Amino acid sequence: MTQLYPFAGASAPEPLALRPSISDGLKVTPNTMGDAIKATDSYGRRFHYLRLSVTEVCNFRCTYCLPNGWKKSSPMNYMDTQEIRRLVFGFASMGLAKVRLTGGEPAVRKDLTSIIEAVSDIDGVNKVAMTTNGYNLNRYVDDWVSAGLSHLNISIDALNRETFLKITGHDRFEDVMAGLGRALEHDLGAVKVNAVLLRDSVEDGFKGWSDFVRNRPVTVRFIELMRTLDNAEFFADQHVSGEVLRGWLTQNGWAPKMRGIDDGPAIEFVHPDYVGRIGLIAPYSKGFCDSCNRLRVSAKGNMKLCLFGNGGLDLRDLLQSDGGLEEFQARVLGSLQSKNAGHRLSASNPGDTMNLAQTGG
Ligand code: 5AD
Ligand code: SF4
Repeated sequence: MTQLYPFAGASAPEPLALRPSISDGLKVTPNTMGDAIKATDSYGRRFHYLRLSVTEVCNFRCTYCLPNGWKKSSPMNYMDTQEIRRLVFGFASMGLAKVRLTGGEPAVRKDLTSIIEAVSDIDGVNKVAMTTNGYNLNRYVDDWVSAGLSHLNISIDALNRETFLKITGHDRFEDVMAGLGRALEHDLGAVKVNAVLLRDSVEDGFKGWSDFVRNRPVTVRFIELMRTLDNAEFFADQHVSGEVLRGWLTQNGWAPKMRGIDDGPAIEFVHPDYVGRIGLIAPYSKGFCDSCNRLRVSAKGNMKLCLFGNGGLDLRDLLQSDGGLEEFQARVLGSLQSKNAGHRLSASNPGDTMNLAQTGG
């Protein structure tokens, strides 16, 4: 694959530590994976993972996210492939090695395959992941993998057609499961399922999904329902603590896997009789934010330091032409220093996050 250097004059990313004007006052550590640097924040957390939303549009109506469906509330001027390429190049020059494409639903973009290809072509990016609701997965997963997709997360909140329809508003359970099966035929780095923990569906969930992963190399990760500005009532009715799952797993012979230093906030459990794994993402638990390793950028080029923070840092103006790598790095690294220790969800404060379709979760 060809290496693209979209920033003029950037024949190769220069170690930032060599530039006192930018690195003054910033904590930067050499990236042991061989990239230029790894950025850290004032709490010593290292960021090597970019979650990049490519659209705010979603075609599903998940009860906890967009119960009335996605509605246009602002212009749909999402970044094009060229802007995305410049953006990811800028992050890769600072040591970010993993990119996850999110939405909304990324697969509603007709140019998704070329976006995957552009991102995977960038030097330093060694994982191109995507989170999808499974729309068009069965149809396009071969193309996405050929374009460079290496890791896949599919949101599937129920293991039966009726509940899936009730939660998502779409009778697509079988098609999504066929897509999951198709994905498993490829040699992907990981195929994971995301299932939101909901009071109404929690019981069949644990047993059903553990049976499902007995002989399949899939990790099913249960996500505690998170409060957003849009879903207060639903949250009050449906939130279940991840401790319920932890208790069930322990009783049923599952043990937490040793965590790697750069693992994100999910805890994964393994069982000697099962090929797959079960994971828990428990944002309400103590210390959840301590292992934060990700930065987020919206489909319009706005960087968010925390999923549940306020405001953001506009990067779009720097993506309009080649050049400006130093300014890009300085802007991103400068703002990292104001990243807070953690979110304030426990105080019922989701920042300015209306729903997760806005920034991809
Ligand atoms: N709480 C928990 N998980 C959510 N997701 C979307 N909204 C919420 C919420 N309020 C999930 C999606 C997807 C992942 C990115 O986040 O189902 O799997
Ligand atoms: Fe469901 Fe994800 Fe779409 Fe939200 S963005 S409605 S969680 S598929």
